[in-house]
Amino acid sequence: MTLSLDYTFMLADAVSGGVAPDGFGGAQTAFAAAHAAVAARRASGELGFLDLPRNRELVTQVLEYTASVRGRYRDVVLLGIGGSALGPIALRNALRPPQWNALDDEARAGQPRLHMLDNVDPVTIAATLERVQLADTLFLVVSKSGGTAETMAQYLVVRARLEAAGLPLARHLVFVTDPQKGALRPIATAEGLPALDIPANIGGRFSVLSPVGMLPAALIGIDIEAMLAGAGDMVERCATDDLTRNPAGVFATLQWLADTTGGKHVQVLMPYADPLRDIAAWFVQLWAESLGKVRGDEHVGPTPVPALGATDQHAQVQLFMEGPRDKTITFLAVETPERDVTIPGAHADIPDLAYLGGHSLWELLNIERRATAGALATRGRPSMTIAMPQVDPWHLGALMMLFEIATAYAGALYGVNAFDQPGVELGKRYTYGMMGRPGFEAARAEFEQLPRSNPARILR
Ligand code: PA5
Repeated sequence: MTLSLDYTFMLADAVSGGVAPDGFGGAQTAFAAAHAAVAARRASGELGFLDLPRNRELVTQVLEYTASVRGRYRDVVLLGIGGSALGPIALRNALRPPQWNALDDEARAGQPRLHMLDNVDPVTIAATLERVQLADTLFLVVSKSGGTAETMAQYLVVRARLEAAGLPLARHLVFVTDPQKGALRPIATAEGLPALDIPANIGGRFSVLSPVGMLPAALIGIDIEAMLAGAGDMVERCATDDLTRNPAGVFATLQWLADTTGGKHVQVLMPYADPLRDIAAWFVQLWAESLGKVRGDEHVGPTPVPALGATDQHAQVQLFMEGPRDKTITFLAVETPERDVTIPGAHADIPDLAYLGGHSLWELLNIERRATAGALATRGRPSMTIAMPQVDPWHLGALMMLFEIATAYAGALYGVNAFDQPGVELGKRYTYGMMGRPGFEAARAEFEQLPRSNPARILR
């Protein structure tokens, strides 16, 4: 059983605000060109993420390292940001029991807790470092570039703490980084620290199936071979340039058409399953950073928004139903939950409660999803549903690969490079300048010329 994509409610013959069926049919040519463009970039060696499912060398690196440290640590702390953290967070929260870090050693079957420091807020970092026993902790320093300010700052803090505690660095630090470039690789080589590779042709937000995601996943007992097999199956499914048979193609093409021909600039991803909540956060980075670009003298790209069913029925769905007609909603559904709970019957005399008895919580959650899709349809609001038979490593690998391939197609359809992020550079240069990094004096001077806050416009 594999993933299904139901796009009935994305088309205007079912939902008035949807994509015209003729327009979708006519997009076969554009999609075939996008498919060919992605294939050409892959053939030229640029799109390494597509080859990860078959990369035995990286899997071996991860499994050998994991085996060599098994049973040694009670805590693993990942230092990383953006694509170096969002994937690992999504994997832990999808594929390990809820509240993993709050479970005792027995409930975790001796596997370590996994903490993510994906920011430089000192409150979080100080609290996390106080909470763990350094002697029982492994720190994963994850950075493709090996130079990201936030991650390097975290690394320096952690390294100083390890040194102050007299702990051997090679036992408590492991780097995941580019095989050659960046500051981390030479440190690892000079100091004999373990370091796993992120292939040079894989960027941060496409790296979850590299050691970026696979190392933390394997350390907490997730079956990474199954994840990669599921991802590999999706690569195969998406090998066709027949749009109607290619799930990533359908997702990308419909979202592109909805945005560019239907004014649906906001694209919501709404899992109806708590374990998939952070898949939405991971997808938001993938879709936003890849597609929000300058093209000639135009600014293009849809705005992705995360939501969670049924929780957001009580927060965002009012907006989706009656706000601007500028959205598509993609529901993520799970066909078989890991467990279910029957709602007991009680209060037979109170109709507001009595009707619930005998149903299950899973039934309620799924009926709410279908009800929301139906309600949106009545208001001309298009949606589609990706259904996973169950939340397990195989299907999650397939789902993440579907979104990665869709992002590559969408980049080609929009006519932008989905694999760079030039828009984040200026803010980085200003930061370097203000933090006193040599070579960025001009950026500091430029920043100091920007408009200043006007005291008259500050309310205190
Ligand atoms: O997708 C990307 O390339 C970025 O979001 C990066 O993941 C993020 O900036 C962190 O970069 P790095 O892994 O080089 O530290």
